[in-house]
Amino acid sequence: MPELGVNIDHVATLRQARRTYEPDPVWAAAMAELGGADGITVHLREDRRHIQDRDVRLLNETVTVKLNLEMACTDEMTQLAIEIQPEQVSLVPEKREEVTTEGGLDVVTQRDRVATVVDALRSCGIEASLFIDPVEDQIRASADLGVAAVELHTGQYALAKGAKQERELELLQKAGEAVVASGLRLHAGHGLNYQNVGPVASIPSMHELNIGHAIVARSIFVGFQQAVREMKELL
Ligand code: PXP
Repeated sequence: MPELGVNIDHVATLRQARRTYEPDPVWAAAMAELGGADGITVHLREDRRHIQDRDVRLLNETVTVKLNLEMACTDEMTQLAIEIQPEQVSLVPEKREEVTTEGGLDVVTQRDRVATVVDALRSCGIEASLFIDPVEDQIRASADLGVAAVELHTGQYALAKGAKQERELELLQKAGEAVVASGLRLHAGHGLNYQNVGPVASIPSMHELNIGHAIVARSIFVGFQQAVREMKELL
């Protein structure tokens, strides 16, 4: 059974809509833990549109399961991660104008930058996971950097319907095999919800799924703890 990393960014999105103190992502993390979350994921964006530095610092003190910090490969973020020391850092591409993370990290063309960040994190005992598209070249380049894990981008699968979704699932299954054969831990995420998570959770050796929007959306109606519990049951 894959572990569930609950991404609580959009709890902070709601708070930032009013620049107020509620809802607090720290409370959401506690509720997620009570609902059975195996990890808490936050993306500290360079533009600080949702999660704030204060959230990451407090979560690092209060979260008792794995804290996974998503961030861009910048010097500023690397310094922050080294200072805060989360259990895991997920490196993602970041564009200011995007609504959400659009594609995977291009480890092939940005090898040197990614390697610098991965090495800096490793020397401080922080595991790195690379968020990549389910593509052979990207998997090989990630394995060459000696990272602990890769997170396969499930966005195309989540957006597709019918036969196209089947093809996207096959790509994820094939990529999953290559990840495991390379000796890396297999993670996946983006766009997963209560309807489409099953086949991805069933990919052999799937270790961790990071899911945010669907859980936060459902939590408005059923409560955070319950929304997490329902996702956990599906896994
Ligand atoms: N994994 C990564 C690397 C992400 O950037 C995101 C979105 O922040 C997610 C997982 C979660 O995606 P969603 O909110 O669509 O579940």
